[in-house]
This record gives sequence, C-alpha cells and structure tokens, in this order.
Amino acid sequence: MTSLPLSANRADLLDQQAADSRPIWLVTPETLANGQFPQTVLTWAKANAYKGKAGQLLTLANEQGQISGALFGIEPADKDKSGEGRLIGGKLARLLPVGNWHIEGKADHAELFAVSFLLGGYQFNHYKKDASAEDQNSVSLYISGLSDLAETRRLADASAMTRDLINTPTSDMGPDALEMAARKLADVYGAKFTAVIGNDLLNQNFPMIHAVGRASDTAPRLIDFTWGKDSDPKVTLVGKGVCFDTGGLDIKAASGMLLMKKDMGGAANVLGLARMIMDAKLPVRLRVLIPAVENSISGNAFRPSDILTSRQGQTVEIGNTDAEGRLVLADALTLADEENPDLIIDMATLTGAARVALGPDLPPFYSHDEAFAAKVAEQAVAQSDPLWRMPLWAPYEAKLASKVADTNNVTTDGFAGSVTAALFLSRFVKNAKVWGHFDIYGWTPVEKSAATVGGAAQGIRALYQVIKQRYA
Ligand code: BES
Ligand code: MN
Ligand code: ZN
Repeated sequence: MTSLPLSANRADLLDQQAADSRPIWLVTPETLANGQFPQTVLTWAKANAYKGKAGQLLTLANEQGQISGALFGIEPADKDKSGEGRLIGGKLARLLPVGNWHIEGKADHAELFAVSFLLGGYQFNHYKKDASAEDQNSVSLYISGLSDLAETRRLADASAMTRDLINTPTSDMGPDALEMAARKLADVYGAKFTAVIGNDLLNQNFPMIHAVGRASDTAPRLIDFTWGKDSDPKVTLVGKGVCFDTGGLDIKAASGMLLMKKDMGGAANVLGLARMIMDAKLPVRLRVLIPAVENSISGNAFRPSDILTSRQGQTVEIGNTDAEGRLVLADALTLADEENPDLIIDMATLTGAARVALGPDLPPFYSHDEAFAAKVAEQAVAQSDPLWRMPLWAPYEAKLASKVADTNNVTTDGFAGSVTAALFLSRFVKNAKVWGHFDIYGWTPVEKSAATVGGAAQGIRALYQVIKQRYA
C-alpha cells in the first residue's frame, strides 16, 4: 500500500487571456467553405488541404516560422445527435502545441467545451519513469463567456480523481488503500469518517461483505463517511468497491480477469461525485458507503451453494461467487436504507450483461421513481454524460428464486443479467424515498474526445446536476 498517485494534466484553463496568447478559430467544413475567416488563414488552410473536419487541428505560422494560431474542427450541431460532439475540446487538449491559447470569438456550449478540454488532457503516467513533469499544465486555454470557471475545474478535478483511483492497480489500491483514499477525501472536507474492518463486519452485522472479502490477505471493510448539516436532506451514495474480482472459486478466465482492477469503479465514481458535492457545498447531508473487498481465492473463500444471511435478514443462496458485487452492495444498501434517506444512489461495475446491452460508453440506470429517472435522462443529455434508463421488470424477479433460501444471487439462464442484478439490489431498498442504481463499466476501452483509454468517470457530472437541482 502506497500513497495515492496523482494524475498529470497537460491542459489548463485560464481566467484571463495571456499576453502571448494565440488564437484558435473553431471551424466546420461549412463555415470554412463560407470563407468567414481572415484571408491568410483561408489560404493556409487551402494550401494544407485542411477541410475543418471535426477534431482536426491545423496550426498557423507567422513569417518568423513561429506558431501563431490554429484552426480546430468542431462537430456541427446538426450532426451531433448524441451530444458527444460537444466534448470535442478534449481532443484539442491533446493536439495543441505547448503554450497559451484562446478561442477566437464564442464557443458554442462553452462550459462543455471547457470541461472536455480539461478531461481530455488527463494523463495517468505516475508509473512511467520517463514521463516528463514539464508536460503538466503545458497547454493553457482562455475561453470567453464561461460563467463559473471554479465549477468547471471542480467537475474535471473530481473526474480525474475517479480515473486515478481506477487506474491505480490493485497492488496499490486494495481495500486498505481505497479506505485511505476515501479517508483523505473526507478529511479535506471535514467529513466524519469510520470504517468497519475484518471481523468487526461480523460483529456489526455485515455478513455478506465479510463473506465476499474474507479470502483476501487485505481485510474486507465498509467505508462510511458523512458530511453536511444533519437537518439537510439525506443523500447517500453507495459504491461497489471490489478492488479486484478474480470471480472467487467460480474463477474468471484470464481475458475476463484482466481488467478487474476496475471493479471498484463504482466506489471511485461515487467518491468523485461526493467530491463535487462537498466542494460545491451543496445543501445536503451526504453519506458515502463503500464496501471495499477483494474477491479472492483461498481455503476460506465463500463457495458456490453456500447460504449467506444478509444484514437485512434475507438468506441468499450463492449460485455463483462471481456475482459478488450485489452481495456486498446488499449489506451496504441495507445500512443506507435504515436511516430513510431522501435519495440513495448506487454505482457499480455490476454486470457484463450491461455491456452486452448498451456497450461500455452508455451505462444503464434503474429507478422506480419516474420523476427522478426523467431528470437523470435529461441531465445525461444536457451534460453530454450518457446514461440510459432500463426497466426494473418485476416479472423477472421470479428468476432469482432459490429452492433452499429466500433468494439466489444469480438466475439460471443469464437472460437480462443487468436487469436481474438490479432487481436483486431492489430487495434491499425499502425506505428511501428515491433509489437509483447505475450499472457502469468504469473504463474507456477506445479513446474518446474527453476520455483517454483507462479508468472512466461515468454519469457523475450528470448526477451532480441532478442533485444540485433537486436540492436548490
Ligand atoms: N465485476 C463483474 C461484472 C463485470 C464484468 C463488469 C466485466 C464489467 C466487465 C461482476 O462481479 C461479475 O462478475 N458479474 C457476473 C455475474 C454473473 C456471474 C451472474 C457477470 O456479469 O458475468
Ligand atoms: Mn464478479
Ligand atoms: Zn465484480
């Protein structure tokens, strides 16, 4: 266990235009063809066969051969049905030569352009010997018309923390290190922190968190911190913190195990979301619960066919030890539910089935609350932070039936795996006014504008807005 590595970011935003700032003209093939730019710029573009394709940069030189400006292709609004194109600033962060820049004129969706610029410049190079520190904040951009630069930075910094936590391998991000990271965050914002560790999980009645995590050399634990005024509405975030998922005795194949350091992606994302909420001082009583475990293999590992008694009292037959996330979440959700919060949000890299349904970049979410679900869907679009509602289809609950216990942790046929996992969790939430479950992938497998390959912040910019507006 070592201290938390910090990411580097080559991109930075400026509050004011720098003295030596160079202009960037945002173009589309259409605006370029219409000739709305200085003649020298148009001539240079033509000489380079530059057409202003989205995401393409063309630098301009002055007579001394110095870089004096740039053209950058943005996504035409009518071609951007998903809203992904509004994050194209992320590409700019990776393409721009070192130095000070400003956007000429006004950028459409300036806030999203700005946040994507910061997100796109993220680099995780802590473990690389030859990574140069000079790269840090080497590209600085001024964008006029930003309403709240602190807010933009808040979103990007929290997302970078989320990505760092996921990218850090389990050798440095086991349940103990994840606890330390959460503790550090709680300390910064003056939150009250506790952790229930090892056998104390049994004493304090978290049997399933203990069962899943007990085979690891690093003790399982429940991370628990609260922040804010007791009189404010209670918002509780629950994140799956499986620091590595071997599958347990139902062991995964090598290809399926390779990425499983990211199985604490739910925890990393709720920590990012918590950071946004605390940093912005939103008027809520926030609680964060993270069952942090390693799903390992050892002589004392929990077994297929074992029957666990959950904190809530329901008995759970273990049909598959690889469906461990829902077990640790069940005990944490039960605790969350005990204080009747206004809102419980859980995030988890819960099922491969979610990826079969919607792919890595579009996390499904579930809620019984129509108004909340509509708001989430609205903000997912508004913030270009995609989320897609799927149903808690009640008839499928029967698939979780067990002959020997109150429920099984898996179904026998595997159909609708993300839905049945959500239905399993729903059995442990009875009192919260609103509950939302987010089955995220936590990883960017193919580079996108605002996300390089690696750990992914997913849905938390959208959820931050939902929470901000709900309690405004
Ligand atoms: N952490 C995995 C889910 C996962 C796998 C997420 C790959 C993203 C990528 C989870 O613990 C798991 O193994 N789920 C099983 C459940 C099955 C045994 C019912 C799955 O999805 O295969
Ligand atoms: Mn698993
Ligand atoms: Zn898992």
